[in-house]
Amino acid sequence: MLRVGVCVSGGGTNLQAIIDRVQDGTLANVSLEVVVSNNRKAYALERARQNGIPAVALPPKDFESREEFHQAFLELLDSYKLDLIVLAGFLVILPPQMFPKYKNRVINIHPSLIPSFCGTGYYGLKVHEAALARGVKVTGATVHFVDEGTDSGPILLQKAVEVRPDDTPESLQRRVMEEAEWILLPRAIELIAAGRVQVKDGKAYIREEDK
Ligand code: GRF
Repeated sequence: MLRVGVCVSGGGTNLQAIIDRVQDGTLANVSLEVVVSNNRKAYALERARQNGIPAVALPPKDFESREEFHQAFLELLDSYKLDLIVLAGFLVILPPQMFPKYKNRVINIHPSLIPSFCGTGYYGLKVHEAALARGVKVTGATVHFVDEGTDSGPILLQKAVEVRPDDTPESLQRRVMEEAEWILLPRAIELIAAGRVQVKDGKAYIREEDK
Protein backbone atom coordinates (compact mmCIF):
# COMPACT_ATOMS: atom_id res chain seq x y z
CA MET A 1 0.00 0.00 0.00
CA LEU A 2 1.23 3.44 -0.92
CA ARG A 3 0.38 5.78 1.97
CA VAL A 4 -0.65 9.10 0.46
CA GLY A 5 -1.32 12.50 2.03
CA VAL A 6 -2.96 15.27 -0.01
CA CYS A 7 -2.45 19.00 0.64
CA VAL A 8 -5.17 21.36 -0.58
CA SER A 9 -6.25 24.99 -0.35
CA GLY A 10 -9.50 25.23 -2.28
CA GLY A 11 -12.38 23.35 -3.82
CA GLY A 12 -10.62 20.03 -4.10
CA THR A 13 -11.76 18.82 -7.52
CA ASN A 14 -8.33 17.26 -8.03
CA LEU A 15 -8.64 15.56 -4.63
CA GLN A 16 -12.07 14.30 -5.76
CA ALA A 17 -10.53 12.84 -8.92
CA ILE A 18 -8.07 10.89 -6.75
CA ILE A 19 -10.81 9.71 -4.36
CA ASP A 20 -12.89 8.54 -7.35
CA ARG A 21 -10.01 6.48 -8.72
CA VAL A 22 -9.39 4.89 -5.31
CA GLN A 23 -13.07 4.01 -5.06
CA ASP A 24 -13.35 2.56 -8.56
CA GLY A 25 -10.28 0.38 -7.95
CA THR A 26 -7.91 2.10 -10.41
CA LEU A 27 -5.74 3.09 -7.44
CA ALA A 28 -6.09 -0.26 -5.71
CA ASN A 29 -2.72 -0.04 -3.95
CA VAL A 30 -3.24 3.48 -2.60
CA SER A 31 -4.52 4.48 0.80
CA LEU A 32 -5.48 8.12 1.38
CA GLU A 33 -4.24 8.70 4.92
CA VAL A 34 -4.85 12.42 5.44
CA VAL A 35 -5.94 15.63 3.73
CA VAL A 36 -4.30 18.80 5.03
CA SER A 37 -5.33 22.38 4.28
CA ASN A 38 -3.97 25.79 5.20
CA ASN A 39 -7.53 27.04 4.73
CA ARG A 40 -10.12 25.98 7.31
CA LYS A 41 -12.93 26.77 4.87
CA ALA A 42 -11.55 24.75 1.94
CA TYR A 43 -14.36 22.61 0.52
CA ALA A 44 -11.70 19.97 -0.11
CA LEU A 45 -11.71 19.25 3.66
CA GLU A 46 -15.44 18.53 3.45
CA ARG A 47 -14.85 16.16 0.54
CA ALA A 48 -12.29 14.31 2.67
CA ARG A 49 -14.65 14.03 5.64
CA GLN A 50 -17.49 12.79 3.43
CA ASN A 51 -15.19 10.00 2.29
CA GLY A 52 -13.92 9.04 5.72
CA ILE A 53 -10.43 10.49 5.25
CA PRO A 54 -8.91 12.39 8.21
CA ALA A 55 -9.13 16.10 7.35
CA VAL A 56 -6.87 18.57 9.14
CA ALA A 57 -6.89 22.37 8.90
CA LEU A 58 -3.57 23.99 9.72
CA PRO A 59 -3.81 27.75 9.07
CA PRO A 60 -0.41 29.52 9.23
CA LYS A 61 -2.03 32.44 11.07
CA ASP A 62 -2.73 30.19 14.04
CA PHE A 63 1.02 30.16 14.67
CA GLU A 64 3.29 32.88 16.09
CA SER A 65 5.83 32.53 13.30
CA ARG A 66 6.35 30.86 9.95
CA GLU A 67 8.92 28.58 11.60
CA GLU A 68 6.35 27.32 14.10
CA PHE A 69 3.87 26.67 11.30
CA HIS A 70 6.53 24.79 9.32
CA GLN A 71 7.38 22.71 12.38
CA ALA A 72 3.73 21.78 12.98
CA PHE A 73 3.13 21.05 9.29
CA LEU A 74 6.13 18.73 9.14
CA GLU A 75 5.27 16.96 12.38
CA LEU A 76 1.73 16.39 11.12
CA LEU A 77 2.87 14.88 7.83
CA ASP A 78 5.59 12.82 9.53
CA SER A 79 3.03 11.39 11.96
CA TYR A 80 1.14 9.75 9.08
CA LYS A 81 4.26 7.97 7.80
CA LEU A 82 3.49 8.92 4.22
CA ASP A 83 5.15 7.44 1.16
CA LEU A 84 3.87 10.22 -1.08
CA ILE A 85 2.61 13.76 -0.57
CA VAL A 86 0.36 15.14 -3.30
CA LEU A 87 -0.07 18.90 -3.65
CA ALA A 88 -3.50 19.31 -5.26
CA GLY A 89 -4.04 23.05 -5.47
CA PHE A 90 -1.95 23.80 -2.36
CA LEU A 91 -1.02 27.48 -2.24
CA VAL A 92 1.61 27.35 0.50
CA ILE A 93 5.36 27.21 -0.10
CA LEU A 94 6.68 24.04 1.50
CA PRO A 95 9.08 24.25 4.44
CA PRO A 96 12.64 24.07 3.08
CA GLN A 97 13.52 21.47 5.71
CA MET A 98 11.15 19.02 3.96
CA PHE A 99 14.00 18.46 1.55
CA PRO A 100 15.96 16.24 1.18
CA LYS A 101 13.83 14.09 3.52
CA TYR A 102 10.87 13.99 1.13
CA LYS A 103 12.96 14.28 -2.03
CA ASN A 104 11.09 12.68 -4.95
CA ARG A 105 8.19 11.91 -2.65
CA VAL A 106 6.18 15.10 -3.23
CA ILE A 107 4.27 15.78 -6.46
CA ASN A 108 2.34 18.84 -7.61
CA ILE A 109 -0.17 19.52 -10.38
CA HIS A 110 0.31 22.77 -12.29
CA PRO A 111 -2.25 24.01 -14.84
CA SER A 112 0.12 24.74 -17.75
CA LEU A 113 2.74 22.98 -19.82
CA ILE A 114 5.85 23.69 -17.74
CA PRO A 115 8.15 25.61 -18.41
CA SER A 116 5.47 27.94 -19.80
CA PHE A 117 3.42 30.03 -17.37
CA CYS A 118 4.93 28.68 -14.17
CA GLY A 119 7.02 29.86 -11.24
CA THR A 120 6.37 32.58 -8.70
CA GLY A 121 3.03 34.35 -9.17
CA TYR A 122 1.58 31.81 -11.59
CA TYR A 123 -1.29 30.16 -9.77
CA GLY A 124 -5.02 29.72 -10.25
CA LEU A 125 -6.63 31.89 -12.93
CA LYS A 126 -3.42 33.92 -13.40
CA VAL A 127 -1.92 30.99 -15.30
CA HIS A 128 -4.78 30.93 -17.79
CA GLU A 129 -4.90 34.72 -18.10
CA ALA A 130 -1.22 34.67 -19.04
CA ALA A 131 -1.71 31.89 -21.59
CA LEU A 132 -4.56 33.81 -23.25
CA ALA A 133 -2.58 37.08 -23.16
CA ARG A 134 0.31 35.38 -24.97
CA GLY A 135 -2.04 33.87 -27.52
CA VAL A 136 -0.81 30.28 -27.24
CA LYS A 137 -2.82 27.74 -29.20
CA VAL A 138 -2.23 24.86 -26.80
CA THR A 139 -1.82 24.82 -23.05
CA GLY A 140 -2.33 21.94 -20.63
CA ALA A 141 -1.25 20.58 -17.28
CA THR A 142 1.90 19.15 -15.73
CA VAL A 143 2.53 16.80 -12.82
CA HIS A 144 6.02 17.28 -11.47
CA PHE A 145 8.08 16.32 -8.46
CA VAL A 146 8.54 19.16 -6.01
CA ASP A 147 11.98 20.45 -5.12
CA GLU A 148 13.16 23.58 -3.32
CA GLY A 149 12.19 25.82 -6.24
CA THR A 150 8.77 26.82 -7.59
CA ASP A 151 7.49 24.49 -10.34
CA SER A 152 11.11 23.52 -11.04
CA GLY A 153 11.26 19.82 -10.15
CA PRO A 154 11.42 16.84 -12.52
CA ILE A 155 8.43 16.61 -14.88
CA LEU A 156 6.48 13.35 -14.57
CA LEU A 157 3.43 13.76 -16.85
CA GLN A 158 2.06 16.41 -19.20
CA LYS A 159 -1.09 16.66 -21.28
CA ALA A 160 -1.93 19.27 -23.88
CA VAL A 161 -5.27 21.04 -24.14
CA GLU A 162 -6.41 23.13 -27.11
CA VAL A 163 -7.03 26.85 -26.57
CA ARG A 164 -10.15 28.11 -28.37
CA PRO A 165 -10.48 31.60 -29.84
CA ASP A 166 -13.44 32.42 -27.59
CA ASP A 167 -11.89 31.09 -24.36
CA THR A 168 -12.03 33.14 -21.18
CA PRO A 169 -9.62 32.40 -18.29
CA GLU A 170 -12.53 30.64 -16.59
CA SER A 171 -13.51 28.45 -19.55
CA LEU A 172 -9.88 27.53 -20.17
CA GLN A 173 -9.30 26.71 -16.50
CA ARG A 174 -12.33 24.42 -16.53
CA ARG A 175 -11.27 22.60 -19.71
CA VAL A 176 -7.68 22.16 -18.50
CA MET A 177 -9.06 20.56 -15.34
CA GLU A 178 -11.51 18.28 -17.15
CA GLU A 179 -9.25 17.22 -20.00
CA ALA A 180 -5.90 17.16 -18.23
CA GLU A 181 -5.63 17.66 -14.46
CA TRP A 182 -8.25 15.17 -13.29
CA ILE A 183 -6.71 12.50 -15.51
CA LEU A 184 -3.02 13.22 -14.94
CA LEU A 185 -2.91 13.46 -11.16
CA PRO A 186 -4.49 10.05 -10.41
CA ARG A 187 -2.40 8.56 -13.25
CA ALA A 188 0.81 9.90 -11.67
CA ILE A 189 -0.12 8.34 -8.34
CA GLU A 190 -0.95 5.05 -10.09
CA LEU A 191 2.48 4.98 -11.79
CA ILE A 192 4.29 5.75 -8.54
CA ALA A 193 2.26 3.12 -6.65
CA ALA A 194 3.20 0.57 -9.31
CA GLY A 195 6.89 1.38 -8.76
CA ARG A 196 7.26 2.46 -12.37
CA VAL A 197 8.75 5.92 -11.79
CA GLN A 198 12.41 6.65 -11.40
CA VAL A 199 14.10 10.03 -11.00
CA LYS A 200 17.63 10.39 -12.27
CA ASP A 201 19.74 13.47 -12.91
CA GLY A 202 16.75 15.79 -12.48
CA LYS A 203 14.47 13.91 -14.88
CA ALA A 204 11.63 11.49 -14.24
CA TYR A 205 11.43 8.26 -16.24
CA ILE A 206 8.47 5.91 -16.55
CA ARG A 207 9.26 2.22 -16.91
CA GLU A 208 7.21 0.14 -19.34
CA GLU A 209 4.55 -2.00 -17.72
CA ASP A 210 5.62 -5.57 -16.93
CA LYS A 211 4.14 -7.91 -19.51
C1 GRF B 1 -5.95 23.49 -10.05
O1 GRF B 1 -6.09 24.28 -11.20
C2 GRF B 1 -4.52 23.11 -9.88
O2 GRF B 1 -3.85 22.89 -11.06
C3 GRF B 1 -3.97 24.30 -9.22
O3 GRF B 1 -4.99 24.71 -8.33
C4 GRF B 1 -6.25 24.29 -8.80
C5 GRF B 1 -6.90 23.48 -7.71
O4 GRF B 1 -8.23 23.16 -7.96
N1 GRF B 1 -2.67 24.04 -8.66
P1 GRF B 1 -9.00 22.14 -7.01
O5 GRF B 1 -8.91 22.66 -5.59
O6 GRF B 1 -8.36 20.79 -7.15
O7 GRF B 1 -10.42 22.15 -7.49
